Amino acid sequence: MRFDLFEMNKIKSNVRKRSSKWSKYKILKGMKKLAPFLPATKRLTSRGLWHFIEKYGTLMLKPCIGHSGYGIIQVSLLEEDRYVIQAENRKIILDGKQAVYDQIEEMTRNRSYIMQQCIPLAQLEKRPFDLRVVVKRNNRCAPYRVTGMFAKVAEEGYMVTNVSSQIILVKTAIEYSNIEPVSTPYLIKKVRRVCLLAAKHLGFHYPLQNIIGFDIGLDGNAHVWIIEANFEPSMKPFGLLKERAKLYDPFS
Ligand SMILES: Nc1ncnc2c1ncn2[C@@H]1O[C@H](COP(=O)(O)OP(=O)(O)O)[C@@H](O)[C@H]1O
Ligand SMILES: [Mg+2]
Repeated sequence: MRFDLFEMNKIKSNVRKRSSKWSKYKILKGMKKLAPFLPATKRLTSRGLWHFIEKYGTLMLKPCIGHSGYGIIQVSLLEEDRYVIQAENRKIILDGKQAVYDQIEEMTRNRSYIMQQCIPLAQLEKRPFDLRVVVKRNNRCAPYRVTGMFAKVAEEGYMVTNVSSQIILVKTAIEYSNIEPVSTPYLIKKVRRVCLLAAKHLGFHYPLQNIIGFDIGLDGNAHVWIIEANFEPSMKPFGLLKERAKLYDPFS
């Protein structure tokens, strides 16, 4: 009995590791064609942190195993040796690298984290939004299809779209956003193409994964960014879209 429990925990821990943000990123990074759509990402280390901040200015630190925006920290360089750290809707301004490092260490408490280039997400009425795109396949040999998508608009003051976000149609989000004039159908097509390519690649490495929910960022220049691939995407938000206005049937 004890052995079984031990084995079971070992299997669970391996499954979690294999589907961590870092593992999925490494797999996606393995496909050359996807490189332009992946924000620069590395495991969080103290040395790497300063190099990344210098290069990108603002970073998102995310637990390797996390969901719903929990534990996400944004770090930005404000001016010379002055930084701002944001978690949920709280911001702290700190002077000096040591103070920042101590604060991050306290907030991450030895959990594994990745650090990622922060994408300046497109905005709707000054609130950032991103997209959830759900792809499904009937079995490991069948092709993936996009079965639904919606846009998540962040609550005022938040940098993650998970927290009490507003769920709206992708078309509406793009048309009323600050994205430079672009054909909406063209951009949606591009998003679908990127997600299907990423799904094909992930599906090859995770043969049992017949459903994937992508979090897709768009920036002001209409560039498509893969923020994360969820292996257990919630279907609930689709219920918040008006029935007749649904772009795709999420359950087909
Ligand atoms: N690199 C990034 N640039 C801009 N926003 C990001 C980035 N990473 C995450 N976010 C924001 O935080 C949200 C949650 O991050 P995500 O990687 O999806 O983790 P979780 O598993 O907690 O949902 C995203 O939907 C997006 O709004
Ligand atoms: Mg997410």
